[in-house]
Amino acid sequence: MSKPGFDCVNQPRRIACLGAAAATANAVFGLPATAATTRDDVALDLHVELRAAPDRVALRSGEPTRVWRYHGKLLHGNPNALEASAGGDLGPIIRVRRGQRVRIELINGLPESTITHWHGLHVPDDMDGHPRFAIGPGERYVYEFTVLNRAGTYWFHPHPHGRTGKQVYFGLAGLFLVSDDEEAALDLPTGAQDIPLVIQDRSLDSDNQLVYLNEGVETAAKPRGGMMGSGGMMRGGGMMGRGMGGMMAGMMGMFGDDILVNGRLEPSLPVARRAHRLRLLNASNSRIYKLAWSDGKPLTVIGNDGGLLAEPLQRDYVMLAPAERLDVWVDFARWRAGAEPVLRSLAFASGTAMGGMMTGSSRLPDGAPFPVLRFRVGNEGSTGAPLPRRLSNVPPVRPRRAVNFDRPKVFDLTMRMMAWGINGKSFEMLAASPLETVKLGSEEVWEFRNDGTGGMMAMPHSMHVHGLQFRVLGRTTTGGSARAYDDVKAGLVDEGFKDTVLVMPGERVRILVRFADYAGLFLYHCHMLEHEDSGLMRNYRVVA
Ligand code: C2O
Ligand code: CU
Repeated sequence: MSKPGFDCVNQPRRIACLGAAAATANAVFGLPATAATTRDDVALDLHVELRAAPDRVALRSGEPTRVWRYHGKLLHGNPNALEASAGGDLGPIIRVRRGQRVRIELINGLPESTITHWHGLHVPDDMDGHPRFAIGPGERYVYEFTVLNRAGTYWFHPHPHGRTGKQVYFGLAGLFLVSDDEEAALDLPTGAQDIPLVIQDRSLDSDNQLVYLNEGVETAAKPRGGMMGSGGMMRGGGMMGRGMGGMMAGMMGMFGDDILVNGRLEPSLPVARRAHRLRLLNASNSRIYKLAWSDGKPLTVIGNDGGLLAEPLQRDYVMLAPAERLDVWVDFARWRAGAEPVLRSLAFASGTAMGGMMTGSSRLPDGAPFPVLRFRVGNEGSTGAPLPRRLSNVPPVRPRRAVNFDRPKVFDLTMRMMAWGINGKSFEMLAASPLETVKLGSEEVWEFRNDGTGGMMAMPHSMHVHGLQFRVLGRTTTGGSARAYDDVKAGLVDEGFKDTVLVMPGERVRILVRFADYAGLFLYHCHMLEHEDSGLMRNYRVVA
């Protein structure tokens, strides 16, 4: 695992490089990073301990639900930077400002290996939570990085190979909110009017316990074989142990019977009659949402994965695929006091045949309509600040800067021999093919093609690239799957910066990717976590 030299230019990055090199050396020798590998002479703005451990929460009346959960502890920094989630099973909200230096110490209190990924953040490869850095029970991994991202809604979740779906499902997820000067200069709703909404689906058994495929939450360590140790090298993790039914559902995706918002069932939220900013995150394992207001009026979108858009957009509905974020502005003064507007998910045609059959075991099949969140509009009357017409400086998309502008790299999303893959290859821990090797500082056009999994296995995919924010260049559809695309196309928000993009059956999506600042090995994969865990994930390598 040789590490090409970093391009160490400015002061904070130079320090990041030193810390990264030390941490990599430790990883090579199989040691978890410790505080000794980080630099104590750097002024930290935030120092947090993040512990992943079993817990019990009250999701329904009766028996408490056993979950796995992140607990944050502030060791240094602004007390407002760490906010425990109000209830349910979610982890804390971490709030930082662009440019801040952050140290986060992950402690694994789980009975199995884990590692945490900072979804959407631009950080060095050994700070990004690649599964090769997974740590065993009782071990610690120290992250330290400078926040270079634009203001926006990012998040964190586990990423051990073959177990990401299960660990997220049992409750391991939290928000990482970045602010900056550009955003602060706008008169956007803040405080109680700036509301993150994390949407997930779950199935509980009659004892109120979470059911993931055929597995329940473990609270104590089971004996582990060498291959299943902290490296998590075995392909597919525990997928084979589930029997045929569990294995098939595992490959198609976990679809829960009930919707949770911010870790709560049957959610409703009191709001003042004034403007709000709703930060939507789809932290579901595999479910896609087609969100609309119950009064049929359009949604006002002000941001997505990589922060604020150049200007607000109006959409009759919006699609939110796993891991995607949308910032929605709404003035609840448009409803009378006492009204109960609902954010709904509308019906849409998702996959076909096999996909529909396998996901049909949930009371809420993929693409079924259901309410997501009920708002209760209060009395307080207030006009509030109007929505700014210009939001953010989003540079124009310049595809001609790509080294392969006229020859996009093609990534076929494939299902062969009952295994998901990309160009026919499933995940390999340390491998990146020549096609998956890119030059530091360059830009490339990539095309994700979802036409190899047509027919029986036609399913949407939610493609995520680690370590960066990309631009969407365009979409084309092929063959007979046009209906699935037609059902969702008006709700796609491809503007601005993205790190995850929905690719419908029969669709091809082109993106412009820029590999800046950090060499190393990063992931790209489908964020339908069961697809990811069963092979729809690969590495790309950035070489200096
Ligand atoms: Cu949020 Cu590799 O993913
Ligand atoms: Cu997928």
